Amino acid sequence: MAPTITPLPQAGAEITGVDLATLSDDDFTAVRTAFTDHGLLFIRDQSLTETDHIAFAERWGDININRFFTAHDDHPQIAMVVKEPEQTGNIGEVWHTDHSYDVEPALGSILVARELPSSGGDTHFASMYAAYEGLDDEMKEFVRTNRAIHSARHAFGAAAFYRDGDQDDFEGRYSNSDVADAMDDVVHPMVIEHPLSGRPALYVNPTFTIGIEGMEREDARPILKQLYRHAMQPRFVQVLEWRPGTVAFWDNRAVWHSAQNDYHGERRIMHRITIEGCALSPAA
Ligand code: SIN
Repeated sequence: MAPTITPLPQAGAEITGVDLATLSDDDFTAVRTAFTDHGLLFIRDQSLTETDHIAFAERWGDININRFFTAHDDHPQIAMVVKEPEQTGNIGEVWHTDHSYDVEPALGSILVARELPSSGGDTHFASMYAAYEGLDDEMKEFVRTNRAIHSARHAFGAAAFYRDGDQDDFEGRYSNSDVADAMDDVVHPMVIEHPLSGRPALYVNPTFTIGIEGMEREDARPILKQLYRHAMQPRFVQVLEWRPGTVAFWDNRAVWHSAQNDYHGERRIMHRITIEGCALSPAA
């Protein structure tokens, strides 16, 4: 059966009629084209083992073993994205794009639902193509001619663990705060030429972007906030309602994501594999 690819209204496409564990080369090509075109895929009705998940990820490139997330006990390639019933904070609630703090940010992440709450726990995705397109001409010119500074330190570094009273809640879920402290800030264009599609995409995010190159932080902050308010408008946001067997594969250079934290008292377990990316070039 050939894959059925259905574009979604705000961002991405849903794919049915494939088994990612046994994908033929032709079907893989169809999925890869959909990934390039849409930057976000929801693939339904899968039953991937951990080994299948790793094998599918390896078809896209090298796996980036996340230095901050707790790894799966038997498969270090898999980062555990877990919230237990007694925990209040979740991983990834604030809008972000994974690994923008790296010199070569990750291509994307493949998230497999392992245990879902009875309701809630959706993931929201915002299209950075549409967000860029929706800017006015003056802001387009500004972002096309500037670069932004990104960091992991405030999110994963030692200081993050003293930031507020909730941090104990993340014990065992994040590690390597000393690595985050040692990482240099990195600079990326505020609008990139997407490495796969060639389209311009806004590339700043509320979690890891900390400033604009050559500007005082207090001058940069309102500009970044204005961009964030713009990009998180519902017209750019696609909601994924997880079902057992759903796999999400997002391109970190095309979308932001935010995990909803609305299922207190229940467990949610997701397995995430992140694929290495490349250095990012400014939009032409
Ligand atoms: C993440 O930010 O990678 C987690 C997304 C989710 O749990 O839905």
